[in-house]
Amino acid sequence: MLPGDGIGPEVASQAVRVLEAVGRLFGHEINLGFHSIGGEAIRGDEHPLPKATLDACLESDAVLLGAVGDPAFDNYPTNLRPEAGLLGLRRGLGAFANLRPARLFPGLVEASPLKREVIDGTDMVIVRELLGGLYFGEPRFVKDDGDREAVNTMRYTETEIERIARVAFELAQRRRRKVTSVDKANVLECSRLWRETVKRIAGDYPDVQLEHQYVDSCAMSLVSRPASFDVMLTENMFGDILSDEAGAIVGSLGLLASASIGGRVGLYEPVHGTAPDIAGRGIANPLGAILSAALMLRYSFKLETEAVAIENAVDAALAAGVRTSDLARSGEGFVTTEQMGQAVISRITGV
Ligand code: IPM
Ligand code: MN
Repeated sequence: MLPGDGIGPEVASQAVRVLEAVGRLFGHEINLGFHSIGGEAIRGDEHPLPKATLDACLESDAVLLGAVGDPAFDNYPTNLRPEAGLLGLRRGLGAFANLRPARLFPGLVEASPLKREVIDGTDMVIVRELLGGLYFGEPRFVKDDGDREAVNTMRYTETEIERIARVAFELAQRRRRKVTSVDKANVLECSRLWRETVKRIAGDYPDVQLEHQYVDSCAMSLVSRPASFDVMLTENMFGDILSDEAGAIVGSLGLLASASIGGRVGLYEPVHGTAPDIAGRGIANPLGAILSAALMLRYSFKLETEAVAIENAVDAALAAGVRTSDLARSGEGFVTTEQMGQAVISRITGV
C-alpha cells in the first residue's frame, strides 16, 4: 500500500476497507504493508522513491497506490519531484502496460457532460504504453545559454511497441474484438514505426478488427462517438491525455481505475491525481481506488469472482443514487469518501 499524497491516503483507506470486507466474505487473508512515495516520502526521506519502498514493492505480490504529486515541490528538479517517485516505481516494476477501463456506470448518464444518446453504450479500455515515449526518452535536459532551451525525446523501439500491441489485441479478444491504435503518423517517426508495427502484430490476431486514428481526430471521436471504442491502444503521453478525457465523459475522472502490468508485480492506482483543492476534506471519490483494488484481485491474484463482487457493488451503489461531490449535480446532496466506501461494502455479497 502506497497511499501517497493529496487525496491519495483518503481514497486508499477506503480501498483497504473494501479489500478487507472481500477477504472476510471469501475467506482470504490479506497482508498489507504501508510505505511512502512522492511528496510524503520527500518530506521524510528526501527521495520520492525511497529504496525501502521499491524493495518492499518488489517483494510483494501487488502494489496498490493512492496518488502522487505535491505542489510544494513544483520547483524541484524533475528527478526529485514527487512524480519521479511514481515513474521510478513504474519502471522498477517493469509495468509497461497500463489498462484504463472507462465505461458508463449505471445511473450516471446525467453526470456525463454528453447527451444520453452519445454516451449510451460506452465501454472501452485504454491501453497506454507506460515505460516509453516522452516520459523516459533520452536525451532530456534544460540548457541555459541566454535563450534557455528544453529538450525531451520521444523514442520507441519495435520491441516496446510489439509487446504493448499484444496486450491490446489479447484484451480485445476477450471483449468486442476491436482495437483502435492512436498515433500521429502524419507527423512523427515514432508514430510511423508504431503504426507499421501494430499492423504487423495484427496479423497474429485475425479475429480482431484494427483501425488507426490520429490522436487529434481520436480526441474528437472520443467526445462525439465514445461508444464506438472497444480497446484503444496508444503511446504514453497520448494515453495520459486521452484517459483524462475519457474520465470526464463517463462522469468523473474520480471513477477511473487502472492496472499497470507486464512485470512480475502489478501496480494498481486510480487515474485521478492528488486533487490538492479538496485534499484533507474527506469528500474525494474513492471509487477509482476501490475499482483499482478490484483490478488487482483480477490481474495479480486471479480472483475474478471477488473482483466482480466489488465491481457489482460499485455499480449498485451508483445505481442507488449514492454520489460523491464530483458526481453530484448542483443542488444535489453528496456523501463523504467514507460513506461511499461504506455504500460499496454494504453491497458486497458473494456472487
Ligand atoms: C497519470 C498521472 C501521472 C502520469 C503523473 C502523476 C506522473 O497523470 O497516471 O495519468 O502522467 O502518468
Ligand atoms: Mn494523467
